Amino acid sequence: MTTASLTDIMILFTFLIPIVRHFQTTANSGVSNDKIRLVALSMGGKIAFVICAFAITISLSLTGIFGSYFYIEFLIEDFCCLTASTWCTADSQPSSATTSQTGSLKRPALNQPARPQLAAVRRMSVQVSHGGQQSHHSEETEDGLVPACVTPRLSCKIATAIASSNPLANSDSEILGKRYPRDSKTNVTENITSKTSRRLHLQLNHPINILKRRIEAHFSNYKVVDSLNPVVSTQQNFDSLLFTDDHPGRAVTDTYYVDSNTVLRTHTSAHQSEVLKTRAADAYLLTADVYRRDEIDVSHYPVFHQMEGLRTFDRKNLEAEAAVHVTGTSIEGAVLSATNPVQSAHTPREAELVDLHLRHSLEGMVRDLFREEKELQIRWIEAYFPFTSPSWEMEVLYRGSWLELLGCGVIQQKIMDEANNADRVGWAFGLGLERIAMVMFDIPDIRLFWSTDKRFISQFASGEIVKFQPFSKYPACYKDISFWCGEGFHDNDFAEIVRDVAGDMAEDVKLIDKFVHPKTKRVSRCFRINYRSMERTCTNEEIDKIQDELRSVTESRLGVELR
Ligand code: DAH
Repeated sequence: MTTASLTDIMILFTFLIPIVRHFQTTANSGVSNDKIRLVALSMGGKIAFVICAFAITISLSLTGIFGSYFYIEFLIEDFCCLTASTWCTADSQPSSATTSQTGSLKRPALNQPARPQLAAVRRMSVQVSHGGQQSHHSEETEDGLVPACVTPRLSCKIATAIASSNPLANSDSEILGKRYPRDSKTNVTENITSKTSRRLHLQLNHPINILKRRIEAHFSNYKVVDSLNPVVSTQQNFDSLLFTDDHPGRAVTDTYYVDSNTVLRTHTSAHQSEVLKTRAADAYLLTADVYRRDEIDVSHYPVFHQMEGLRTFDRKNLEAEAAVHVTGTSIEGAVLSATNPVQSAHTPREAELVDLHLRHSLEGMVRDLFREEKELQIRWIEAYFPFTSPSWEMEVLYRGSWLELLGCGVIQQKIMDEANNADRVGWAFGLGLERIAMVMFDIPDIRLFWSTDKRFISQFASGEIVKFQPFSKYPACYKDISFWCGEGFHDNDFAEIVRDVAGDMAEDVKLIDKFVHPKTKRVSRCFRINYRSMERTCTNEEIDKIQDELRSVTESRLGVELR
């Protein structure tokens, strides 16, 4: 009985503390009437809960279950967190400061560590509240409010989730029939994962497939690899290719994370090490769909297709295996320089032989592809990739402007060594198939590749390069959206929401205005969305509905304040 009473008193205190804190916070921070109403509502809930919990505890205690305190205490913590309407400003929080990745959540948090089993509940409650709260707070209040129950580590996670537009933090993602639990870094959306099954490069009569086959026909003795799963580890996509930990390519704003250690491949190079390790072929062409978070316009789509070519040589027999005649080509003028160095693991002669073989092979392939252009001009631009040195980009002069076609270079020997190929040296290239197909087939908008409209797909036949005949250009409809956003805001996060809500109806999204409030220093952005279907004329009501949905999803998912 004594234990029961003690337990009850402790419980009472556990509830009183957050209640008192509510009043303190409300008094200190000068919150709006709305906020006080919210607090009062949640207070009512808490008092009711106190009474119930009290009664339950007494009965449990009487039946001798003394351990109930711990259970109830667990529930209290959970409950306090779920009803967290105590949003604190800088002045109302004790300081044990933390700055999140986005910079917009800059409040310190409760010094109690989060229990792992509560983290998921908390993350959800905070995300829901975050959007609503942000949209209510007035001009004088600084942005970046954090609910009181968030721990420093957790607030970082929330920031990441918001930055990466994580709409369904708690459900699994399904990719090609396999389920992947989401975590704080997940930013892949259903709109994107649904594209993984399309595999346009394998669809007969599709321009991407026609182009792929053309290149394969040119490099006829290269092994063809074209059906690898797009879900790869960060080790494959980045570490195995010697990307530094702070390489921008790893950012959640640029890459689709399935979870913290898994991504949708951002390039075909992600498979280099695994294919090299098999030592199945000394030359291969690997084609695949690749995924990148990006802006929205007629030449960018979050999924596109790359082809990776790779060739290796026996180091002991390099002079014979890599010998080429490059006279009369654009390669003569290029000189290896300090900014595009020979690797210390290679002799200058080794690097020269591999480099010449690489550029000679690629020049032959591109001249073959653009065989109609008799005087095709090609130039080599020094480049940098973590996985090659020296490295190049190849450009061609096409209809008056230089067009970048591919990246390439001599494979870093460390990659060869780690992939069980220490006795060999090699080169690799990666090219974007859409980029080339758009100019070869005269396709004006990258969204067309994804069209299932017969009027598009019926224009192409296996093996033929024909000019696309536009069936119609339907009217465009421009709509603007403006909002105040936090420091960590990234344009790609907004683009992702446009893709989710409008799908392929969004032709183009442009940032048309950016404004910094002179007093609060908050930043307002205005985006113009150009809606246009490729298949029909849309009604005004239809577009208005999409725009309304876009406004509400932008507000709730990004926690911005609409203007
Ligand atoms: N992976 C690079 C990209 O996506 C392209 C690339 C460059 C591939 C150089 C290569 C290479 O194999 O050697 O931009």
